[in-house]
Amino acid sequence: MDKEKVIAALNHDLALELAAITQYMWQHVMARGIYSPAFRDRIKAIAIDEMKHAEALAERIVWLGGTPTTEPTHIRVGGDLSKMTADDVKAEREAIETYREQLELVKDDPVTHRLLVKLIEDEEEHLDFFQSLAEGSAA
Ligand SMILES: [Fe+2]
Ligand SMILES: [Fe+2]
Repeated sequence: MDKEKVIAALNHDLALELAAITQYMWQHVMARGIYSPAFRDRIKAIAIDEMKHAEALAERIVWLGGTPTTEPTHIRVGGDLSKMTADDVKAEREAIETYREQLELVKDDPVTHRLLVKLIEDEEEHLDFFQSLAEGSAA
């Protein structure tokens, strides 16, 4: 296993999580509209999930001998509820795609592998919520 490559990959993941925390917390306080009460509660819970993901990734990076980043990737903000939901679908899809691609890289490190699988599982659940909202069948 190429440790430096794994640390760099996990730091990219951490940056995605840091962006998601801010994006979702911002939506939690800014959401307006008829569906916003249900959305605001759920999005806050999802932001806290992302915080746990960031913590787990940062812990793994330190364990592997790296330094966890403090820089988020792109944070998508603004717009109405449907714009927010579309932005969230994009963020979750990006995370799932990124983590899936990294499974091969960490296949010899069962603990990191398991962490990524757990993150994919959680992000798929988030994606399902945002997609169902986008389709108008939730909230
Ligand atoms: Fe996450
Ligand atoms: Fe997520």
